[in-house]
This record gives sequence, C-alpha cells and structure tokens, in this order.
Amino acid sequence: MKLLITGGAGFIGSNFIHHILKERRDAQVVNFDCLTYAGNLENLAEVSSDPRYTFVRGDIACVQDVEKCLNQGVEAVINFAAETHVDRSILDSSAFVRTNVQGTQVLLEASRQKKVSTFIQVSTDEVYGSLGERGEFTEESPLAPNSPYAASKAAADLLARAYCKTFNMDVIVTRCSNNYGPYQFPEKLIPLMILNALEDKPLPVYGDGLYTRDWIHVKDHCRALECILTEGHPGRIYNIGSNQERQNLEVVRQILEILRKSPDLIQFVKDRPAHDRRYAIDATVLQRELGWKPQIPFEEGLADTIRWYESNSDWVSHVCTGTYQEYYHRMYETRDETLKNL
Ligand code: NAD
Ligand code: TYD
Repeated sequence: MKLLITGGAGFIGSNFIHHILKERRDAQVVNFDCLTYAGNLENLAEVSSDPRYTFVRGDIACVQDVEKCLNQGVEAVINFAAETHVDRSILDSSAFVRTNVQGTQVLLEASRQKKVSTFIQVSTDEVYGSLGERGEFTEESPLAPNSPYAASKAAADLLARAYCKTFNMDVIVTRCSNNYGPYQFPEKLIPLMILNALEDKPLPVYGDGLYTRDWIHVKDHCRALECILTEGHPGRIYNIGSNQERQNLEVVRQILEILRKSPDLIQFVKDRPAHDRRYAIDATVLQRELGWKPQIPFEEGLADTIRWYESNSDWVSHVCTGTYQEYYHRMYETRDETLKNL
C-alpha cells in the first residue's frame, strides 16, 4: 500500500511513519513535508535508508508540489501537515489559514483528480471548543472552535466533509485529544516542562493551572490511525482519546516529582486568551466499531517520555539551537531534487 504522509517530519507524523513501516511489510511511504520549524528529519533517521521510505520536500498549499507527488500511484493520503501551536496562532494566524485550510483544500482537490482511494484528515478535539466540568465530546458535538488554530482545523474538517458529500470521495476525519511522547517539539506543555525542569528553569503555568486535557500517548494515536486506515468507514468522523484527563498543574507536578526537582520551579504566568478550560473525548465509536483500545497508562507513558528526552540529548540540543533546520534546509534546498527521488 503506497501512502502519502503529509507533515511526516513533525511529531505525530514521524511517529506514524515509524509505526506503519514496522507493522506493515507492504507499506510504502512518501513523507511530504515542507520542513517548517516543527519539521525535523532527525525524527526519521532510523528509517531514512529503508527502501520503502522516501522524503519529498513540498508544500501542501502548492498545487504543483502536490500534483507531482500524487502522480506516483498513491493509494491513501494521511494529512498530518499543519501549523499546530495555539499560542502561535494567537500571535499570527495567517500561516494557519494558508496551511490548515488552503493546504487541505489543495490536497483534497488533487486527491479527487488523481482518484486516491482513501483520504484521512487528521484533526483535533479542539474543533469542539471547551467543556464545563462534566460531559465529553462525541462525534455529534457542535463545532465551536475558540482559537485561530482550532478554527482553521474546523474549516479543514468541513472541507473534508464537503468533498466526501459532493464528490463521493472516501474521506475520513479523525479528532484526537492531546498527544505526548517522543519527538514532540518543546513548545507544547509536556516537552517544554520536561526540558525546563531538566535545566532548572522556571515552568510557566498559564492562569490557575486547573485547565484539563485528555492525554493520549502518540503510539496509541498511531495504532488508532492504522486501524482507521484499514477498517474505517468512508465519510465518518472518529474521535480518538484515552480517558486520561489531567489538570495541567497535576502534569507539571508529576514531571517535577519524577525528575526529583523542586515544585518551586513552577511559575504562574499570564493566561492564554480564550483558553479552553477542559477537553474530554468520547471514543466509544472507534472502540465499539473497530475494536481499538488505548494501551498506555498516562503515568507510565509520561515516565517513558521523560526518559526519552533525557537520553536523546543530541536531538534536544539540535532542536533547541535550531541546527536541524540549517542542516536540512541546505540539504533539500531545491525541492525538485527530492521529487526526482520518487
Ligand atoms: P507538528 O507541528 O509537530 O508537525 C507538523 C508538520 O507539518 C511539520 O513537520 C511541518 O514541517 C509540516 N508542515 C507544516 N506546514 C506544512 C505545509 N504547508 N506543507 C507541508 N508540510 C507542512 O504537529 P503534530 O503535533 O505532529 O500534529 C500533526 C497533526 O495532528 C496536525 O494536523 C494536528 O492538528 C493534529 N493533532 C495534533 C495533536 C497534538 O496533540 N499534537 C492532537 C490532535 C491532533
Ligand atoms: P499545549 O501543549 O499548547 O496544547 P493545547 O493548547 O493545544 O491543548 O497546552 C496544553 C495545556 O497546557 C493548555 O491548557 C495550555 C497549558 N500550557 C501552560 O500552562 N504553559 C505552557 O507553557 C504551555 C505551552 C501550555
């Protein structure tokens, strides 16, 4: 099965490439990524010489880049490519609209023209907005995004739906809760707090720290996506989550405890505007219909993740100094060079 994985140099995309190459001997993967600050080919060093893996430097919002890639007999597209950080979307939402909305439209349209069999749009629970103290998001919950990031993902979900309805395309939308695990860029809560704690720097907790997220290990997310790729029903939305709600302060305290660092490192800082209070996902459709179940308990996954960041100091230092970018941008300066590899 030939897969076009967009955004495969990012956190979840790279974990998915490792997963699928390991689990499926018949998988052939084209990793299509334009290498923004969040794209790091070091995440894929172990598979870079696998003959079933090819990297193409390309932009999902560029019709020519996408068309060239889809000429290669791709059977399924899994769209991970996105701008993903809420705080950045508050500072400037333009890249979010370009990549997340326009990029998804370009991919959908090219996939329609090339008659790609399956299109999976990797979305997020953030499209549903915020919950009060009770309740969970189901696939029927209304879309009520509160940040420019969430709004751009919701727009992409609606385009995916429209392509499915209008052109009878086999499109599936997945909405997962907050992921954590190896290779996550240290702008997101868990890796940022781990790295700051390791260096005895302050841990910035927004507002009162009582905001709640439903954490899932990235490996459980990847297993869910494989399941949906092989058995998912076209036209459906699948929530993905593992019912492991934790308040931010609880997560930060656990990190400090595991690393035997002082809670005095916690620093309460100004809150994020329109900060969603609570996310919680009802994933029973996926569990009941496709038999998927999360396997990694949060405390175990968190301890493993901390160990991963501690023992991958080269990766961490390249990411923190930005050297991975200079290196790969020089290497793949001419986008067409990588297209020739196909
Ligand atoms: P990430 O920020 O780590 O990676 C995004 C990747 O997309 C990077 O490699 C980047 O270079 C690439 N990219 C960005 N713009 C591109 C463009 N125009 N063309 C080609 N490539 C481009 O993101 P992530 O955390 O791995 O998230 C992957 C997907 O999963 C996103 O769509 C996100 O909305 C969704 N998601 C993330 C989470 C989470 O907790 N991280 C949860 C649910 C859903
Ligand atoms: P984040 O990892 O940015 O994911 P999202 O906003 O997409 O859920 O943030 C997770 C939670 O942690 C969110 O409630 C905001 C909070 N947070 C902090 O308190 N401090 C920080 O430095 C960051 C990055 C996040």
